[in-house]
Amino acid sequence: MGKKGREIVKVDVERLIELLKKAFADEWIAYYSYKWAADMAEGLKSPILAQVADKIADEEEEHADELAERIIELGGEVPRDLEKLYDLANCKKVKYPQDVRDLKGMLEALVEAEGCAIEVYNNIIRFLGPCYDKDVRTFHLIQHILSEEIKHEETFENLI
Ligand SMILES: [Fe+2]
Ligand SMILES: [Fe+2]
Repeated sequence: MGKKGREIVKVDVERLIELLKKAFADEWIAYYSYKWAADMAEGLKSPILAQVADKIADEEEEHADELAERIIELGGEVPRDLEKLYDLANCKKVKYPQDVRDLKGMLEALVEAEGCAIEVYNNIIRFLGPCYDKDVRTFHLIQHILSEEIKHEETFENLI
């Protein structure tokens, strides 16, 4: 990030990078877990769940990319080791039911996972403070991701 771009950030940058890295880890776990649900649903002939979980998984991956871009702009480094992601994550697991044919249970687990993501981004917004001009760029990014997580929760909820 350039000189002026850095100058206008008025929050604790190290702490912000930490929060963004944790959210980045959440996104990768969501991506993997949703792809897993999509593959399983495909195999079990649940085309709607397969299609929706697959599409939302791709959006989670996009979130990871967007967070990575901002982490690097702020002078941080994206976690390079896969095993570190689990340690960093706020939302470590999507609690799918034992029986993957339990569609309602699968969807409930996905709703809960989105609830966790919503909390994570809402907390980052709070960290950025009531005056979003402390870091406009991160504020808009997190606001954008948060509104997609809210939509994801609603999409899964509507399928129940
Ligand atoms: Fe996401
Ligand atoms: Fe999501």
